[in-house]
Amino acid sequence: MKQVVKKAIIPAAGLGTRFLPATKSMPKEMLPIVDVPSIQYIVEEAVKSGIEEILIITNPYKKCIEDHFDKTFELEERLNRSGKTKELEMIHKISEMADLFFVRQKEPKGLGHAILCTKAFVGNEPFAVMLGDDVVVNREGEPAMKQLIRQYELTGSSILGVQEVALEETGKYGIVKTASKEKDGLYALEDIIEKPKENPPGNLAVMGRYILSPSIFEHLKEQKPGALGEIQLTDAIAELMKEEKVYAYQFKGRRYDIGDKMGYLKAILDFALERENLREPLMEYICELAEKNKE
Ligand code: UTP
Repeated sequence: MKQVVKKAIIPAAGLGTRFLPATKSMPKEMLPIVDVPSIQYIVEEAVKSGIEEILIITNPYKKCIEDHFDKTFELEERLNRSGKTKELEMIHKISEMADLFFVRQKEPKGLGHAILCTKAFVGNEPFAVMLGDDVVVNREGEPAMKQLIRQYELTGSSILGVQEVALEETGKYGIVKTASKEKDGLYALEDIIEKPKENPPGNLAVMGRYILSPSIFEHLKEQKPGALGEIQLTDAIAELMKEEKVYAYQFKGRRYDIGDKMGYLKAILDFALERENLREPLMEYICELAEKNKE
């Protein structure tokens, strides 16, 4: 019988080396897109997708993620006293957003290892994985995770969220090999290769959104750490595929890699341009910059 996807985990315990020195003491998942930390957008996406319980994987240096979603009595009291009701409401909402739980990954031993730390929370249910540095926006339609959940409701199988990338970019992603399209962006998975150096099996890349069957934990447990001591989720998915059907689904929406400098800059610009009070002055500034940097 198909189960309902009620739990999501958000791995956010990576080192963020691509964003040093900012990430020396500041989690990349807390980098603000204009004025909202990236991870808040991911929690909002989970809630809008119908997820009821969220577990965030952090590490001892990322306590501020927990603090961000906690209640801040003193700040709320001060905002209340000074009549800043709009700000008060905004701050209060964050701590009420969802049932949030936290677990610490003691060492950054890779995404697979991070997910293994959530076994007790997940239990024997299918669960969602939403990477803490992948923000996806689909303003006109359903959130990316909701789209995956709909596909899960049809198939009852694990599903990897994918999007097309340029062939020369495939070396940066987990790339899937798929059988022909079943319908509307849904493919049966034939293989998955982590960051292929040459001959990628296609250009559909896994983009930070998954629904996984709990059997994945058995395969994660069996994975041997790679050269950098990391346990790869991709390898466990390749094993899972041998026993259960796994699908790839090409979700709609724009995805930003916040852990990458260019991805982060694009996110800030796009999000700012969506704000009524920022759009016009920002556009003016962008045009001015474009004019100045023409040659
Ligand atoms: P990334 O590979 O993008 O994160 O992992 P990273 O290792 O922090 O990045 P760089 O390459 O050093 O800049 C994808 C997601 O998995 C989490 C990260 O926090 C990120 O959200 N992750 C990664 C963990 O939770 N634990 C790990 O050991 C590794």
